[in-house]
Amino acid sequence: MKKIFAFLLSASMLLTLAACGGEGGGQTTDTDNIITQPVTKQTSDIKETTENANSDQTTDLAIKAPGKTLVVYFSGSGNTKRVAEIIAEESGADTFEIVPAMPYTDDDLNWRDQSSRVNNEHNDTALQDVELVSTAVSGWEDYDTVFFGYPIWWREASWVVNRFIKDNNFDGKTVIPFCTSTSSPLGDSGKNLSEMAGSGNWTDGRRFTENANETDIRDWVKSLNLE
Ligand SMILES: Cc1cc2nc3c(=O)[nH]c(=O)nc-3n(C[C@H](O)[C@H](O)[C@H](O)COP(=O)(O)O)c2cc1C
Repeated sequence: MKKIFAFLLSASMLLTLAACGGEGGGQTTDTDNIITQPVTKQTSDIKETTENANSDQTTDLAIKAPGKTLVVYFSGSGNTKRVAEIIAEESGADTFEIVPAMPYTDDDLNWRDQSSRVNNEHNDTALQDVELVSTAVSGWEDYDTVFFGYPIWWREASWVVNRFIKDNNFDGKTVIPFCTSTSSPLGDSGKNLSEMAGSGNWTDGRRFTENANETDIRDWVKSLNLE
């Protein structure tokens, strides 16, 4: 009799412990997962956890993600390239250089020579659709802000950028034009490019001299308060 009683007592204790362990352990693990979620986790992981717990947390994380910036530019003789690289460094942006399939030599760029390539192209607009190595930017959709740089040619944006403008969709992007020139202002060049693009929120932009002061470039980028 004593043996039967001892057996029944230990069996019922085992059943009670198993029941408590299952339920209580589960609750502790769930709570720990939510509270100790590392902030460095992938977005998909963060979403998965916070959507179950509190959808407001997912929204907060999305809003705090900084916008991505790209500097797109064409440069015939290096002045615009230098400005573009300083802008990219100051704003933490990626860069994309517009490269003609047939690069311009110094002779090609000699606008004083009536038979130079730039003069031929200037005189015949059909020649201004310059073939480019590529107009496809990897991850283009992910960029929120695009600085767009070019040299001034005959008081307008160099036509070398036209093919890039026509091939890309600027919808939803803030576009900030910038140029370098000997003396001409930015003028209507940014406005004309925005009309050619037909999309994007184009801002006024800024003109720099051929050897623009580095601090001026950096101060301008800071003044834009990106992010
Ligand atoms: C074909 C050609 C036309 C130019 N037309 C002008 C102009 O109308 N006004 C001006 O101020 N500078 C003009 N320039 C000077 C360039 O705008 C200036 O040197 C610019 O910084 C060149 O930039 P890059 O080195 O990036 O090509 C011209 C230069 C070239 C090659």
